[in-house]
Amino acid sequence: MRVGEQMDEMIRNNIFRFSDTRQLAGGVALVLRDFSRDRLNIQPRFSLGISGGRTPHELLAHIAAAMRYDFPWERIDLFWCDERCVPPDHPESNYGMTHDTLLQQVSIPKASVHRIRGEAAPDAEAQRYAAEIRMHVPGSAILPGGSGSPPVATAAASRSWPRFDCLLLGLGEDGHTASLFPGAAALEITDKICAVAKHPVSGQKRITLTLPVLNHARKVMFLVAGRSKAQIVRRLLGHTIRGADGEIWRTTDPSENGEAPLPAARVRPAGSSLEWYLDDDAAALLD
Ligand code: 6PG
Repeated sequence: MRVGEQMDEMIRNNIFRFSDTRQLAGGVALVLRDFSRDRLNIQPRFSLGISGGRTPHELLAHIAAAMRYDFPWERIDLFWCDERCVPPDHPESNYGMTHDTLLQQVSIPKASVHRIRGEAAPDAEAQRYAAEIRMHVPGSAILPGGSGSPPVATAAASRSWPRFDCLLLGLGEDGHTASLFPGAAALEITDKICAVAKHPVSGQKRITLTLPVLNHARKVMFLVAGRSKAQIVRRLLGHTIRGADGEIWRTTDPSENGEAPLPAARVRPAGSSLEWYLDDDAAALLD
């Protein structure tokens, strides 16, 4: 596992590379186990948000196998970072995918599985899910926005944001994460916990956590695998500078040629860590 580091203002990006998805999942499971143990030494519950898509699907099965007995599932509150607006038994349901790969393998109490109801009316469900998050995920004092974090809207400044302990995020080839797509209105929402988004190609409605919620998490872990992601990984992480200490650092170049910063580049959790778990294929174009 090679670690390249990137110091970028408030953000400290750590890049962890693995030979394949099974090794990547094993590394993620170890980090989740240790981090949750640390947090559960000082708090009663641990809130974990997971994403959908092929990569998380592939990884969750390995992570479940690695964590079946070695993870405090009875003290975990499991949430989704986004969900397609389809019923849970639909082949594209993120919950449905998680049920098959993770939930059937581990003994997490049903009441701790906080499903986004993809079958419900989207606007109402975004509000309902936000309320469910508020009920189970303790708030944080408004953290100073790290560079690149959106300014917290005054409407929200009077309330604290729910602070997830850990969010597992995927990365789309267009630089989206969760269901925050480039140029989408949901990306600019700074006074809601959840938003209704729309897939730019299929038009499929989604429920997604908003950027301020991602940026208030204690730990954000991007899980990226496969050669198809090498280009976007390079665009996000492939720029290097020689630090004052002479060491080569990776900088995030959120945008090129003056374009708007990519959604994934705007995930910059102030005061916490941003970690990239890449298999060698996804990291192929990093030097
Ligand atoms: C979703 C996700 C989305 C996904 C990335 C990566 O519901 O699709 O939350 O953000 O994690 O698009 O998906 P792939 O691994 O399938 O490319």
